[in-house]
Amino acid sequence: MAKHSYEEVEGQLLDSDEVELDSQFSHQKRRSSWQRTCDNAYRLFSFCLMAYIASMVTFPGAFKRSCSCQAEETAAAMLAEEDERRPSLVPEEHVQYVVRPEWVSLRHPWNLPPSKELDRAWDKLLYALNVRVSPDELDMINENSTNRVRVEDGDYAAVIGVYHHMHCLNNLRRIVHWDYYGPLLAKAKGFNPEGYTKEHSGHCIDSIRQALMCHANTDIYTIEWVDDDAFPVAPDLRSKAVAKCVDWNHLDSWARQRALLPGRFHTLPGPFPSSAVKKNQDELS
Ligand SMILES: *[C@@H]1O[C@H](CO)[C@@H](O)[C@H](O)[C@H]1NC(C)=O
Repeated sequence: MAKHSYEEVEGQLLDSDEVELDSQFSHQKRRSSWQRTCDNAYRLFSFCLMAYIASMVTFPGAFKRSCSCQAEETAAAMLAEEDERRPSLVPEEHVQYVVRPEWVSLRHPWNLPPSKELDRAWDKLLYALNVRVSPDELDMINENSTNRVRVEDGDYAAVIGVYHHMHCLNNLRRIVHWDYYGPLLAKAKGFNPEGYTKEHSGHCIDSIRQALMCHANTDIYTIEWVDDDAFPVAPDLRSKAVAKCVDWNHLDSWARQRALLPGRFHTLPGPFPSSAVKKNQDELS
């Protein structure tokens, strides 16, 4: 969320700079027409432009309108706040990187159609969807604890960002294959249809959009014409780029130690009547 707002602030900064450059040029044009008697208007124009650039360099910000100053301050404040939030709760040794080809084609079990086996693979990925965070840890990362969901022993329930995005992806995957998952989920214990509304899907699409744009992959793919009966939808993307990826198992092993498993925890009553204790909760997020 924070990253998204920062992106919008950046956009405003660029826009206001462009407006100023345009008005400077029109101002200069008017000025050169007033000086018709001068036989070297061009030289004057160049001089003024140079003077303008020099003063911009000497007094940066002097020509900016107050709204772009505000935008700059907001962006700086958000970055400072982000720095204060460090260190992350996930210890460094659990955020390691591995290098692998940018693009690997579908491998077992991800190449399977909707099936028990594919579902087991997704369940394994999302085992640590909900995790516990102690009150001290919440303080350490400077998170607000007011009205936050707690579990019986007083810890807070939390979600690691990437698990939320994966949960969203899985949600959309189930909707794509609704002919398979609709009847299956309807029979499942504790099934909550609110998780599969268009509103929830819209939220999921947007959270994935923001994550992809925030962690923008800048590798280049080429597009090859393929004549293949098995995949009639040619062309195909190719890349020789090498990707630096978080080692999932290291991150996941940290998350798993603090996983809140469906049916194995109870939440404490919340501040509103509708947020009373929910037993055998399936998923919090
Ligand atoms: C903490 O969260 C509560 C509830 O949403 C909110 O009213 C309060 O302003 C927040 N405090 C800070 C410091 O963000």
